Amino acid sequence: MRRPAGRNAPLDAAGWHTGPVPRFLSAKPDARLIPLPWGTPLAEWPVEHLVALPRGISRHVVRFIKVGDQVYGAKEVVEHVAIHEYRLLHDLRRLGTPSVEPVAVVSGRVDADGVPLDPVLITRHLDFALPYRSLFSPGVRHDTVMRLLDAMVVLLARLHLLGFMWGDVSLSNILFRRDADTFAAYLVDAETGELHDQLTDGQRSHDLEIARVNIFGDFCDLEAGGLLDESLDPLSLVETIESRYHELWDELTGLEEFSDSELYRIESRVRRLNALGFDVAELDIQTSPDGRTISIQPKVVDAGHHSRRLMRLTGLDTEENQARRLLNDLDTFRARMQLQDADESVVAHQWLTECFEPVISAIPPELSGKRDPAQIYHEVLDYRWYMSQREDREAPLVKATKGYVRDVLNTLPDEAMSRDVLVTVDGGDHRLINPYDPSLGFVDDLEGDEGPVHDPWEEAAEGIDAGQAEVLDVDALRRRG
Ligand SMILES: Nc1ncnc2c1ncn2[C@@H]1O[C@H](COP(=O)(O)OP(=O)(O)OP(=O)(O)O)[C@@H](O)[C@H]1O
Ligand SMILES: [Mg+2]
Repeated sequence: MRRPAGRNAPLDAAGWHTGPVPRFLSAKPDARLIPLPWGTPLAEWPVEHLVALPRGISRHVVRFIKVGDQVYGAKEVVEHVAIHEYRLLHDLRRLGTPSVEPVAVVSGRVDADGVPLDPVLITRHLDFALPYRSLFSPGVRHDTVMRLLDAMVVLLARLHLLGFMWGDVSLSNILFRRDADTFAAYLVDAETGELHDQLTDGQRSHDLEIARVNIFGDFCDLEAGGLLDESLDPLSLVETIESRYHELWDELTGLEEFSDSELYRIESRVRRLNALGFDVAELDIQTSPDGRTISIQPKVVDAGHHSRRLMRLTGLDTEENQARRLLNDLDTFRARMQLQDADESVVAHQWLTECFEPVISAIPPELSGKRDPAQIYHEVLDYRWYMSQREDREAPLVKATKGYVRDVLNTLPDEAMSRDVLVTVDGGDHRLINPYDPSLGFVDDLEGDEGPVHDPWEEAAEGIDAGQAEVLDVDALRRRG
């Protein structure tokens, strides 16, 4: 469908209305975005600019647009909201929070008839992000679900520590990424967010209450669509989120009192926080006037204890638990090579060139879209462990990598992005009505065609049908129901 162009409306080479040159607000402009058909409502964009990737439910028109090899998320939204969200996402990134990266706000759009169009907020597509609808699919193991809940709780606590009140926590507004055996959660929708110096307990409870209501609704929708494992109950899932949040918050910020004979508890607190992945930047230590009672309270804690250390040593930018795993491997390497006395950064460099890089460069380029490098390395280490057990001797890394590529990586769906995997299900039997807008549902009915159940995370090696899971859409199922 081509939009009728007004008499003086500028057209692009393909005849699409481009409108007057719109205004770009951007800290890091990508010039390739400028010639796109901004004079056309996002919902009517020609498919040559779009990619079909899974995404959550949204009130606004959201599309993934592709320029060169870069994919962006584009959301059509009123001007003040677009600018507010752009700035907030910018602040969150600056503060080191896991959130999508804002790229631009395109405003001043006018259609062929001279009617103004809402601005578009552009964010960089978060590669390797997993949509929650495939993560909570039937058959997913209970502890996988608990890890997903933990990832959400950590994200919420991190945001609250920074004084960010989200105001719209929901499963659709969170993206998950693999993080070794766990997940890392990212914020994707900051529209309703507010950044304060510090949140009051009331503000935090309010946010948690919103999370509770929204996520309960999300789980009920999944349940109604037959997408939630029967062993999982929406109410107890949200209660778990709440109780884990309180536990984590107490550990991160709580006051602890003990007698002067228990000074080791200062060290223990710091270690516990490190084990949770946090560094203590300021610990307030107070002694009672008689010197008998000590109280400690962390005042500033920063997430990313392990990932910062790995970054400092090797320059690798990874998720927290991936970093933990890689650092353990680095320690093993140091012991095996008898480098205990060598400088840590020298050993790290040696590990990088003798262990990490050979594994990553042995991955065929066409398979590199399936996992990010740190996750590949983590999975190769797991694979090697099983291989060594099987063969009753330590398997060399290179051999394990070959086996991993052959047995695991080859069979996995592409997580970076893949039109084919995501647009069609069951080799093309079930097609989305509009692959660029999954909320419209499927051409034919999926009912009664649940297919085999797999847990892609615990059973990674055993042929996953995630393509199927990734295009299921709660909205569509709800409508059909
Ligand atoms: N940069 C991105 N990377 C990956 N996925 C994205 C990105 N931007 C948006 N999405 C996907 O698009 C969906 C909708 O985006 P978003 O939540 O911003 O829209 P919305 O209309 O504001 O939602 P709401 O209804 O919660 O207000 C998200 O759930 C997410 O799955
Ligand atoms: Mg949203």
